[in-house]
Amino acid sequence: MEQRAFGNTGLTVSALGFGAGHIGRDEMTEREAEQVLNTVLELGITLIDTARGYGHSEERIGRHLAHRRQEFVLSTKVGYGVEGFEDWTGPTITAGVERALKTLQTDYLDIVHLHSCPLEVLQRGDVVEALVRAKEAGKIRVAAYSGENEALQYAIETGAFGSLQFSVNLCDQRVIDAGLQLAQENGLGVIAKRPLANAPWRFAERPVGEYAEEYWVRLQQMNLTPGDLSWDEFALRFTAYLPGVHTCIAGTSRLDNLKRNADILAQGPLPEAVMAHVRETFKANDQEWVGQI
Ligand SMILES: NC(=O)c1ccc[n+]([C@@H]2O[C@H](COP(=O)([O-])OP(=O)(O)OC[C@H]3O[C@@H](n4cnc5c(N)ncnc54)[C@H](OP(=O)(O)O)[C@@H]3O)[C@@H](O)[C@H]2O)c1
Repeated sequence: MEQRAFGNTGLTVSALGFGAGHIGRDEMTEREAEQVLNTVLELGITLIDTARGYGHSEERIGRHLAHRRQEFVLSTKVGYGVEGFEDWTGPTITAGVERALKTLQTDYLDIVHLHSCPLEVLQRGDVVEALVRAKEAGKIRVAAYSGENEALQYAIETGAFGSLQFSVNLCDQRVIDAGLQLAQENGLGVIAKRPLANAPWRFAERPVGEYAEEYWVRLQQMNLTPGDLSWDEFALRFTAYLPGVHTCIAGTSRLDNLKRNADILAQGPLPEAVMAHVRETFKANDQEWVGQI
């Protein structure tokens, strides 16, 4: 598995990361979660991304991987859901970091994001300051921002963050010429989320109410086809090799998809002409297609 410098943070991350959203669900057994998490490390994936809001995810990572903590870069997200604290205040960030340390059974967090923190909150300053203080206190290594569009732009301009997480994929490309480029210029680490565009090709009909719905609509409109490749390979190689993307956190609950995604990454970038075609097709069809949280 290719390992890459994570911007100027001093961390190194694998080109394929693991989005640990799915392993937090009730439908997955403890045993299944344990197997997926350990396979992640066996495959050479060294970045695991979780959040306060991903069900049992943080707790399961702590339970099953605490003894292998030095083998991976741990990324989580805060800002809400701390008992006794109002969401999106400085004290919630401080308490959220403490809570995450405990749940993840670790004494340091590598990357901590403000999770879809609204622009108005960023502008207020106290929440950002609390995250920076946690970094100064040595509890976290990188203060990070997760979000899209104007808020993402503002977050980069504050200069307070060492890395970013945002959606970038076949169906979400506006950020490539904006946030991604700026991130690169500023030496920021970049985690690409929703790198498979939520695999909308799995649905024959519009998946109303599903996470993949918006991308399904966009994909229909673009009328893109993967040529000789399978859809998953087409989608993942597009995202993973965009200049400035350091790791892409494909989410899965399945061992076969996990292994398959690792194999796909090993195929390297898409040919330049294919990349250019995908970029042009998005631009030609873009109808206010803003970044999806
Ligand atoms: N910061 C945020 O606000 C935010 C928001 C969204 C996501 N995220 C992060 O990004 C991660 C990934 O996002 P995501 O799960 O929404 O999007 P994604 O990675 O684009 O898509 C994942 C979906 O595709 C399926 N899948 C995985 N590999 C596949 C393959 N090779 N072929 C076909 N289908 C495949 C998975 O289902 P199976 O389980 O069936 O494999 C899952 O339903 C999350 O786990 C989370 O860590 C963060």
